[in-house]
Amino acid sequence: MRLTSIAYGADYNPEQWSAQTLDEDIALMSEAGVNVVSLGIFSWALLEPSDGRYDLGWLRQIVDRLHAAGIGVDLATATASPPPWLGRRYPETLPVDQNGVTLRWGSRQQYNPSSAKFREKVAGLVRAMAAEFADHPGVVAWHIGNEYACHVRESFDPESAERFRAWLRRTYGTLDALNDAWATTFWSQRVYDWDEVIPPGPTPTIANPHQRTDWNAFCSDALLELYCLERDILKAANPSIPVTTNFMGLFGALDYWKWAEHVDFVSNDSYPDPANPRAARDFAFQNDLMRSLGGGKPFIQMEQVTSAVQWRPRNTPKRPGQYGLWSIQAVAQGADGILNFQWRQSPGGAEALHGAMVPHAGRDTRVWDEVVDLGARLTDLSAVVGTRVEPRVAIVWDYANAWTQANACGPVTDRVPDIEARAWHGSLWELGIPADFAHPGGDLTRYDLIIVPALYRLTDAHAARLREAVAGGAVMVVTYLSGYVDERGHAVLGGYLSTIADVLGVRVTEPVALGARPDVDGRAEPLDPLTDRVSSVVGTPGANDSVRLVAPDGSAWAGSGLGWSERIAVDDAAVTVVAVFDEADVEGLPAVTVRAHPHGGAAWYVGTSLDARGRDSVLRRTLGDAGIAVPDLPAGVQRLERGGLTFWLNHSDVTTTVDGIDLGPRSVHMARP
Ligand code: GAL
Repeated sequence: MRLTSIAYGADYNPEQWSAQTLDEDIALMSEAGVNVVSLGIFSWALLEPSDGRYDLGWLRQIVDRLHAAGIGVDLATATASPPPWLGRRYPETLPVDQNGVTLRWGSRQQYNPSSAKFREKVAGLVRAMAAEFADHPGVVAWHIGNEYACHVRESFDPESAERFRAWLRRTYGTLDALNDAWATTFWSQRVYDWDEVIPPGPTPTIANPHQRTDWNAFCSDALLELYCLERDILKAANPSIPVTTNFMGLFGALDYWKWAEHVDFVSNDSYPDPANPRAARDFAFQNDLMRSLGGGKPFIQMEQVTSAVQWRPRNTPKRPGQYGLWSIQAVAQGADGILNFQWRQSPGGAEALHGAMVPHAGRDTRVWDEVVDLGARLTDLSAVVGTRVEPRVAIVWDYANAWTQANACGPVTDRVPDIEARAWHGSLWELGIPADFAHPGGDLTRYDLIIVPALYRLTDAHAARLREAVAGGAVMVVTYLSGYVDERGHAVLGGYLSTIADVLGVRVTEPVALGARPDVDGRAEPLDPLTDRVSSVVGTPGANDSVRLVAPDGSAWAGSGLGWSERIAVDDAAVTVVAVFDEADVEGLPAVTVRAHPHGGAAWYVGTSLDARGRDSVLRRTLGDAGIAVPDLPAGVQRLERGGLTFWLNHSDVTTTVDGIDLGPRSVHMARP
């Protein structure tokens, strides 16, 4: 955004109120220190009341008023919620779900990204917006669409099918190459004509996993094309106004690494659940991801809520102090702006009960007091604007990997890369260690510790990056379910991980899933040795949720494995076994290994889903080996550094003293060392 101080504000939907409320809002915004609002996100129906007839004058008046009051506008292109007349007049713009049901108006985001007519209508509106506003000095950024794919990520209509085929032709060139990639010789799926290639499902049983992964990539690209259509129109009108669209944390439907190349700054919406004691940690995960997606550049917290959302079954408000605490946490992690959904609580509609900066109850409220208080504190933080946070630890994350694992039929339906990335990030956060996320195809050599959670799809190029980092002296921890398939999602032969066995010194010869819920046909009766002469003496370790781990000499080892084990072949004399499984069928077999490398590098392999104790133990050791000190902090306290400032954040319910500073419950202290 074109701002020199931390951006503070909200989505602003003034069309819901009278002109008098606008006057009041502007006064209140000044009181709260609001310096930017996102305007017009859901205004299409008012901006284009009928086909091709634009009415932008009312919006211009509001932009003028805000600008005169010193409030910048993050101006939306308003394409996120098409008006009812559009769907009625052009039904082909409406999305179709997998069962062939057309999704209609009456909510929002009811559009088919591949519809030529929809793209034409979007371009028309965006051209009109650009013509009216691209030279307005009050516009500090363009907000394109809103939360792409949040509600509709795919459409199963004829135009989407046609674009999918075109995408596949560009990707594979020939039908033979597509048949190879999709392994269509299995189950008689070979296609002989491009018209036989269709979007996945509905099918009688398991759909082709390679087709599904390509469909995921295509759907992400189709929406990206739609976004870029708008971006190009806006940039042609005035290249100096930065553009963005709001991401949603890890949200799996879009490849945000790819999307991030097309925004001028990354922005994010996040709504951690205050009822969850790990909410600040979930929030930290998103903040680290957003900073990383932008290559380390500052991001904007585009949406959050001051108190409670309205879309959970029960909506707990943020606790007193948490709004300010978490907002400043985001700044300490790299945010240059803190915006909310929304400025004023709506009088009606689907989100009337969603929190806002100005609550239904008005100014005489706890929420308003905290809103004003944060505004004042953010003005003290201008010095950090534009500065970077540069962690020494990275967690590898790849959307294509997550899609491939989710689409594979077996060995487990859990979304393992997601679960493991969150678990390892969470453990680092609890230790007080900041982390980046990194794409496995990027340069990893600047990190001292690299966590590779469930890199199921390990391409040759990605293996080369990991190899390079370890050779350069990095410590790497690779977890279970890595290196099972190649770039195309085809099984790795000779033992999983064999393509990187030179680094790890191990291969996986058999996955041994645990935590299974046994299939029971007929009556489920307790086993009784008197009546179950055979069955009562049959063990079922696969039904255990966890597996004990011990040191190779049988002594205790901190932590156990959850839901997973693997048979690991150790091929290399340089490998040290750190822990072994201590359960039937895998007893005494390696569970955690490490292979030392020259120049200080080391490659760890963890053949199970370590519990928190286990992750903590591996992290303390690997952080130490990587030369990264674990800070000594009291319970509940985080200490972060950015732009020469130190931030002490007390998440706990008690007053705590740290570094000679008394921190009240849910409070922040900031100072230059
Ligand atoms: C977001 C959306 C906003 C608002 C908010 C409520 O997903 O972008 O428009 O609906 O959620 O939490």
